[in-house]
Amino acid sequence: MTVPGDTSTRAASSSPLVDSGRHESVPTGSHPAPFAALARATAGGTPANGRPHDDDTPASAADPGRETAAAHARSAAPAAGNATHSGRGVDFLALARGRRSVRAYDGRPVPRALLEELLEAACWAPSPHGRQPWRFVVLTRDAPKRRLADAMGAEWERQLALDGQPTATVATRLARSRQRIVDAPALVLACLYLGDLDRYPDEERGRAEEIMAIQSLGAALQTLLLAAFARGLDGGWMCAPLFCQQTARAALDLDNALVPHALLTIGYAARDPHRRPRRPLDELVVRFD
Ligand SMILES: Cc1cc2nc3c(=O)[nH]c(=O)nc-3n(C[C@H](O)[C@H](O)[C@H](O)COP(=O)(O)O)c2cc1C
Repeated sequence: MTVPGDTSTRAASSSPLVDSGRHESVPTGSHPAPFAALARATAGGTPANGRPHDDDTPASAADPGRETAAAHARSAAPAAGNATHSGRGVDFLALARGRRSVRAYDGRPVPRALLEELLEAACWAPSPHGRQPWRFVVLTRDAPKRRLADAMGAEWERQLALDGQPTATVATRLARSRQRIVDAPALVLACLYLGDLDRYPDEERGRAEEIMAIQSLGAALQTLLLAAFARGLDGGWMCAPLFCQQTARAALDLDNALVPHALLTIGYAARDPHRRPRRPLDELVVRFD
């Protein structure tokens, strides 16, 4: 699967408060439809608002050229833009509390339309400058799932051996992890794509920009998981690709500009999993003035 390369030539802005104003298009490669549309909607050429995160001036008031880009983004973006406030009043807390990590599925396939709905939901997560620095690789066929599981497994085996873990433990952990990946009806490999972000001459701000992108990848994945739960599906988060990024990329023949960060398994839970309790709020809120 060909994916967008790092073709951005975005100029460094001297301050995170200043938009460079350059929003070059990123080629969408050969995404099969309708993922081509999703890729367009998430590519840097059509940022949702095309301006820094702290600038909420309406696009049309500031720059008519921007309005054109924004209008294009709206038409290329996933549907639901009109019903801006239609989600208000839903019992979100129930959804947030209901979602839980699932690690075993009952084998029923997940319809493609449902998967697309989840991916679309993810696209509405907040992101730095609205640039959506994430790309998704969706796997539902056995062959690519096995290829990914085998490649990551081989790398993990090497790492576990380095840790000095007993052979039997290594074998058990590897088999469990492989099974989890191969048996999941659908996988979403979430990759970071930094090509559209602002660039800075100094490392510190560059690092902050990258962290923002990673933060927003997490927001996108949580949105996806909540959407899955809302639609009767379940999901689980595997950090494995983060520990073997090049291996995961090579296994799926992905562009070097894509940085694998997480693997989500999606399907219908085989059983209700153990629920992890949460810490009391007073442990987490260190100050509430
Ligand atoms: C960044 C991140 C990495 C995670 N990696 C893994 C993982 O590799 N394997 C796994 O089984 N769960 C993983 N999880 C899921 C957590 O273990 C899970 O969210 C946590 O135990 C709370 O349980 P809950 O999701 O059921 O509420 C990860 C979660 C996050 C946010």
